[in-house]
Amino acid sequence: MSANYQGKRGIASKMTKTELLLRSEELTKHIPTTHWLGLKELTTLMDRHRMVYVKPDRGSKGIGVMRVKKTSNGYELRGGTRTFKFSSLAGLFRSLQVRIGDTPYLVQKGIHALKQEGRPYDFRVMIQRNSNRKWECTGTAARVAHPDKIVSNGSQGGTIYSPARLLVPVCGEAEFKQLQEKMNRLALLTAAELSKKYPQLNELGLDLAVDKKLKPWILEVNTRPDPCPFTKLDDPTIIRRIVQYAKGYGRHYTLNCNKAKKAP
Ligand SMILES: Nc1ncnc2c1ncn2[C@@H]1O[C@H](COP(=O)(O)OP(=O)(O)O)[C@@H](O)[C@H]1O
Ligand SMILES: [Mg+2]
Repeated sequence: MSANYQGKRGIASKMTKTELLLRSEELTKHIPTTHWLGLKELTTLMDRHRMVYVKPDRGSKGIGVMRVKKTSNGYELRGGTRTFKFSSLAGLFRSLQVRIGDTPYLVQKGIHALKQEGRPYDFRVMIQRNSNRKWECTGTAARVAHPDKIVSNGSQGGTIYSPARLLVPVCGEAEFKQLQEKMNRLALLTAAELSKKYPQLNELGLDLAVDKKLKPWILEVNTRPDPCPFTKLDDPTIIRRIVQYAKGYGRHYTLNCNKAKKAP
């Protein structure tokens, strides 16, 4: 078994997972450029995209995730509910280094995700093995970031919506169906790619951001996905099915879900 596969914890390193997905030509088109964080890499990606995310390689729940943005007179670093301004990128990077110490970090092209009242949102797609050990998409939840934050995670105060409720008003029913099919296809390709190397995987949670051209981007893949977002959907059949599939491969969730908010 590969050293990266940590039994019950799955694959922790985002870089390891990204590198595996980059073996697929089709998936590569949907993966924002990702590098180990350094001043050189930060500079290259900022020159190209003007907005990037930095995140711990082995993080979760949005902890330690920050956004760097070019402003009219310098650079802005946002993390948690705080914003810091700098006149140079080198200055920003020095402050970043103090903040993160020697934790390995990644820098990734920032996706201009769709927004709801100024709050970015993205999607969690759950994919699980069914009773025939075939991969099946079992649910998608949209997560709208807390008004003061740049991460959508439920544990950071994100609000859960059904994807249709957010997307149909943006793009109409037909385009929504197409987009949902595209997202499911990305999830299936991801599962196929990761399970080539890690056949013992049974479930994955993809974080997908959708940009203004309605292109889905894979922000990360979770190998120990949290079922909680799906408990906040109006349709109770989704979480029921997720729980039932999980039982099929011997995982029993404890659903104490009090962090993410249910859409009003
Ligand atoms: N490249 C990116 N572009 C836009 N938003 C991002 C990007 N990377 C992360 N985010 C935001 O930060 C959140 C947390 O990042 P993620 O990579 O999923 O790490 P974690 O393991 O902490 O959940 C995402 O759900 C999304 O809201
Ligand atoms: Mg995530």
